[in-house]
Amino acid sequence: MPAVAPPAKALVTGANGFIAVWVVRRLLEEGYSVRGTIRSEDKGTHLRQLFNSYGDKFELAVVPDITVACPIITDVLASCSISR
Ligand SMILES: NC(=O)c1ccc[n+]([C@@H]2O[C@H](COP(=O)([O-])OP(=O)(O)OC[C@H]3O[C@@H](n4cnc5c(N)ncnc54)[C@H](OP(=O)(O)O)[C@@H]3O)[C@@H](O)[C@H]2O)c1
Repeated sequence: MPAVAPPAKALVTGANGFIAVWVVRRLLEEGYSVRGTIRSEDKGTHLRQLFNSYGDKFELAVVPDITVACPIITDVLASCSISR
């Protein structure tokens, strides 16, 4: 059993990314709400169509650069040999 059960809301950064789209789909199918971040509004067009049937359980927020919005991400990545 997951630590946080549906209908909790999950945050998925880079929601239009290859892996993230599948994560979003799985979360919605499991009954979670999802707030995804994208770097610009145009990147949400396809996602909004894709997950339209989930209504207000799927929402997007524009975060142009998460390393600026959340500087701690940069610190955490700094000690990693493999990062994107
Ligand atoms: N058809 C395919 O087989 C296919 C397609 C895509 C990827 N892949 C592969 O799948 C693997 C995993 O892909 P992935 O999902 O990890 O990567 P990805 O598809 O490149 O997604 C990364 C996500 O992070 C976002 N992002 C990157 N830097 C950011 C920043 N500084 N601030 C905010 N958001 C940021 C990207 O936004 P932006 O989109 O705006 O850059 C994107 O949404 C890779 O090896 C990739 O080559 C395969």
